[in-house]
Amino acid sequence: MHVAVTGASGFLGGYILRALAQAGHSPRVLGRRAAGAYPFFHWDPSSSLPPESALAGVDGVIHLSGEPVAQRWTREARRRILESRRDGTRRLAEALSRQAVRPRTLVSASAIGFYGSRGDEPLTEAAAAGTGFLPETCIEWEARARDAEAAGIRVAPLRIGIVLGKEGGALAKMLPPFRAGVGGTLGSGSQWMSWIHVRDLARLAEFVLVNDTVQGAVNAVSPAPVTNREFSKILGQTVHRPAFLPVPAFALKLLFGEMAEVVLGSQRVLPQAAMQAGFRFEFTDLRTALTDLLRPA
Ligand SMILES: NC(=O)c1ccc[n+]([C@@H]2O[C@H](COP(=O)([O-])OP(=O)(O)OC[C@H]3O[C@@H](n4cnc5c(N)ncnc54)[C@H](OP(=O)(O)O)[C@@H]3O)[C@@H](O)[C@H]2O)c1
Repeated sequence: MHVAVTGASGFLGGYILRALAQAGHSPRVLGRRAAGAYPFFHWDPSSSLPPESALAGVDGVIHLSGEPVAQRWTREARRRILESRRDGTRRLAEALSRQAVRPRTLVSASAIGFYGSRGDEPLTEAAAAGTGFLPETCIEWEARARDAEAAGIRVAPLRIGIVLGKEGGALAKMLPPFRAGVGGTLGSGSQWMSWIHVRDLARLAEFVLVNDTVQGAVNAVSPAPVTNREFSKILGQTVHRPAFLPVPAFALKLLFGEMAEVVLGSQRVLPQAAMQAGFRFEFTDLRTALTDLLRPA
């Protein structure tokens, strides 16, 4: 398949491009910056539709573009986080719908932030959205992707969990304090963390792209979410450091403002759609995933 990947210059993009190439596809990059040695088409999602030439002959699209969420949520940052997703996705869906020969599938990044903070409740794709800034952003993001359904394109919002990889995301932020022996639980530690190894995430994006039986949203998380207390304990053991210095919720709120809800919120998400479609996770156990990621090169 010829696959266009937007926002591929970021943390997940490199892994997804590699997984696509390994599965025999021909990826191309669509965004403001190139990635790897793949064909590159410039597109600024904040100002224009993607150029027609970038989408010509494309069988599938994986849409990753979006302003980083892990920053202090000032009024201006919220605007960028929401608008980059809402407007960029709307423009992409419009351009796809206008193509004479349309791609079959759009796999569009979303996030488990869709569900809001839900305590111990197990969350499959059938669970309702939560309330607040992140759920509302995800609702809008998914709705704009689904605009492409009217043109006969299968749209699969990928509700991505906490992606574990060395080069970016949550693990890269958590590692320095843990390696320094000053890691510990965040807040009460009872909040659920729905994690996924970055290579499983990349394989799952490809799986959803090629499997026409997958309809609708897909939770991109491992089948074994853990509490933050458990996560901290296993991460400490993996780096052979103590992990008993808790960071109280109020300190996180002082540091990060409202964005602290990303680490204090509880989401016990299950990958029901992926498992029902027959996806096989390589990493279903946190300790194995962390050991794999933190093995010396
Ligand atoms: N990593 C995770 O754990 C995680 C979890 C849940 C959801 N997600 C979602 O999955 C997608 C990819 O994640 P990632 O970790 O690879 O993100 P990332 O490293 O921040 O990369 C996203 C890409 O989006 C583009 N971008 C950045 N700011 C933008 C803006 N203001 N307007 C338009 N495009 C912008 C950039 O590409 P160019 O500069 O090349 O255009 C950037 O490389 C994101 O939408 C993210 O919200 C990720």
